[in-house]
Amino acid sequence: MTQSTAPSTQDRVMIFDTTLRDGEQSPGATMTHAEKLEIAALLDDMGVDIIEAGFPIASEGDFRAVSEIAKLAKTAMICGLARASIGDIDRCWEAVKHARAPRIHTFIGTSPQHRRIPNLTQDEMAVRIHDTVTHARNLCDNVQWSPMDATRTEADYLCRTVEIAIKAGATTINIPDTVGYTAPRESAALIRMLLDRVPGADEIIFATHCHNDLGMATANSLAAVEAGARQVECTINGLGERAGNTALEEVVMALRVRNDIMPFQTGIDTRKIMGISRRVSAVSGFQVQPNKAIVGKNAFAHESGIHQDGMLKAADNFEIMRPEDIGLTETNLVMGKHSGRAALRAKLANLGFELGDNQLKDVFVRFKALADRKKEVFDDDLVALMQDASSEEANEHLKVKFLRVICGTEAPQSADLTLTVNGVDQQVTATGDGPVDATFNAVKAIFPHEARLQLYQVHAVTEGTDAQATVSVRMEEDGKIVTGQSADTDTVVASAKAYVAALNRLILRRDRVGDDRRAVSYKDVS
Ligand code: KIV
Ligand code: ZN
Repeated sequence: MTQSTAPSTQDRVMIFDTTLRDGEQSPGATMTHAEKLEIAALLDDMGVDIIEAGFPIASEGDFRAVSEIAKLAKTAMICGLARASIGDIDRCWEAVKHARAPRIHTFIGTSPQHRRIPNLTQDEMAVRIHDTVTHARNLCDNVQWSPMDATRTEADYLCRTVEIAIKAGATTINIPDTVGYTAPRESAALIRMLLDRVPGADEIIFATHCHNDLGMATANSLAAVEAGARQVECTINGLGERAGNTALEEVVMALRVRNDIMPFQTGIDTRKIMGISRRVSAVSGFQVQPNKAIVGKNAFAHESGIHQDGMLKAADNFEIMRPEDIGLTETNLVMGKHSGRAALRAKLANLGFELGDNQLKDVFVRFKALADRKKEVFDDDLVALMQDASSEEANEHLKVKFLRVICGTEAPQSADLTLTVNGVDQQVTATGDGPVDATFNAVKAIFPHEARLQLYQVHAVTEGTDAQATVSVRMEEDGKIVTGQSADTDTVVASAKAYVAALNRLILRRDRVGDDRRAVSYKDVS
């Protein structure tokens, strides 16, 4: 008799990605409809088990995105979020029902802090949980229930509500650490307690959903898995409100690299990690910090002399995983002005960007312009160029056509700017305290607005004085936060384009007034 080496279902951990819901909820991370569909396709392709595609009742835009993702998904289950109300659950079902494998995720805040918001007693909330989960289960046989702020909920009440949800038909119980308060030992103990105390707990899947406020989200998630959770909720790059959510790439790679002590499998093709990380960074406008585990620019770089020497002797002296395992190709000198279209397409595919013919045509023009100005075009330059292209795709109203600045030791610095506004060129000259200030004043003279600049950041993409600069801009108007990014060998041009990209996103959001009127926050659970 041969013994099977296949992992038992006990060892399989499902990856639930919420980049498009909890991640996108992060202020300034708003994605366009097309970007959401693109990210969903990449998640599906990389082997994510469940994609939380949005919060359908929140806006028409969210509803449309969830419905379309549900129609397009090939293998992933598609989940939508709903508060504990019949209207939310019905709307969620209308959006996810198109999926091959739909899921309704409904939740209510169970901690003393969150019970105050809907002003329900423990008993009243218990009835609400029973009624809403029953309703969801009558619509869909795959129902996830979350006691929001579970880690600050009284143990007895948590067990009681989880039991009610299981009896009402929930098939997955998610245990959120909503405010990032727990620690690994406690996270594990919570799952163990629920498995021990709640009748029927062995018939459902427990999920863990951690936020990173104390920097322990990944550790807390892994501890929960060791205690019996079989679904991890996470986002690409750890995107999410405040300090973010558990990072998908960290959990998946930790389970892979330390499989000796954490013998669990995921269905993720890890070679797709880097490509999707770059896309999420580009479309959300959230730069990945250079020293971020797994996907940071320095995660595989060995800068110090000792390390370099060690690396030359044996890669595994310092590397616990290979760059190619996450889809990272070496940052070599790759392209120059003589490189052709086919080489560019192949190189970009290698970096995780699959382009259609029309897109390639446009990117090739940009690449040639860059190669004319910069004789060595590195992988990171191409990534910056792609990020720039994607932020311009979202831009329809304003476009930088011409910019010349006068700067130096003699004030005032001035900017001569031509902006195309809805297809019409407008020109202005403005002064300011430095070339960037003058440029932003020029934009404001052509396109007056009240948005407040919250952040202005410049990063050099590669080394050398001809390096491209990536500029990130974050702006706020009436509580709406948007970000814009751009890259150019000229820092002031990159600044102008990033500023304009942020304004374009703001205009997009203003245009969604109808949506915003209906917008709801998951925090004001009725
Ligand atoms: O953090 C949280 O509690 C959530 C819930 C809606 C699951 O995101
Ligand atoms: Zn969350």
